[in-house]
Amino acid sequence: MEIMAFVGSPRKGSNVDTLVDRVLAGADSSASVEAEKIYLYEADIKNCIGCLACTALKGGQPCPLKDAMPGILARMINADAFIFSTPNYVHSMSAALTNFFCRMQPLIKMDIIRDAQGNITGADATTLISGKRAVAVVSQGDFSPSRSALILRSLESNLRDFKLKAVGEVLSTGNLEKAAVKDKPHDLDLAFAVGARLASK
Ligand SMILES: Cc1cc2nc3c(=O)[nH]c(=O)nc-3n(C[C@H](O)[C@H](O)[C@H](O)COP(=O)(O)O)c2cc1C
Repeated sequence: MEIMAFVGSPRKGSNVDTLVDRVLAGADSSASVEAEKIYLYEADIKNCIGCLACTALKGGQPCPLKDAMPGILARMINADAFIFSTPNYVHSMSAALTNFFCRMQPLIKMDIIRDAQGNITGADATTLISGKRAVAVVSQGDFSPSRSALILRSLESNLRDFKLKAVGEVLSTGNLEKAAVKDKPHDLDLAFAVGARLASK
């Protein structure tokens, strides 16, 4: 099973990264896993410029940005499952993960529906990663889990837009200090269990 993990924190080896490693360890416990971890803050991924070239509105042209994204998208089409992870930054997912979802738009193939006057009335979408499995991982500083409710909802909506099968989520709280989650066996166990579910068919 090929799993691609996207780390949306700039702090390598810290909370989000540690939880992603536990998800991968859990996945490895229930299947033979080949994992690729991509640090979104280090990868050569430029910011989406909103040109819409990749969308049906402009005929689904190649993205004009020259970077590592075409290769990443090609590997996503071949992968079996994904881990999307982020710290809570100002009540939102990190800028790097937001941008990554924007840059994933070429994976969505949309047929625009117009009325007799040519006005857009809707759209039918398919995606090139439809049906693959995915989990979401979030770490926050605050102790109240509700502080990341919007982020989890947003992640869930994005997984749905890409027609991925959400098989679990990990939310770890009270992690303001670097790698604080390493002292939280319950959260590490949860991440491991979610990983095991990700890899079990
Ligand atoms: C710029 C910034 C904004 C943050 N905003 C929030 C926030 O709104 N709510 C929260 O609970 N934690 C917030 N945090 C704390 C991080 O979510 C928390 O430390 C997280 O565990 C970081 O993950 P990391 O160690 O993997 O980078 C913020 C941290 C930073 C650096």
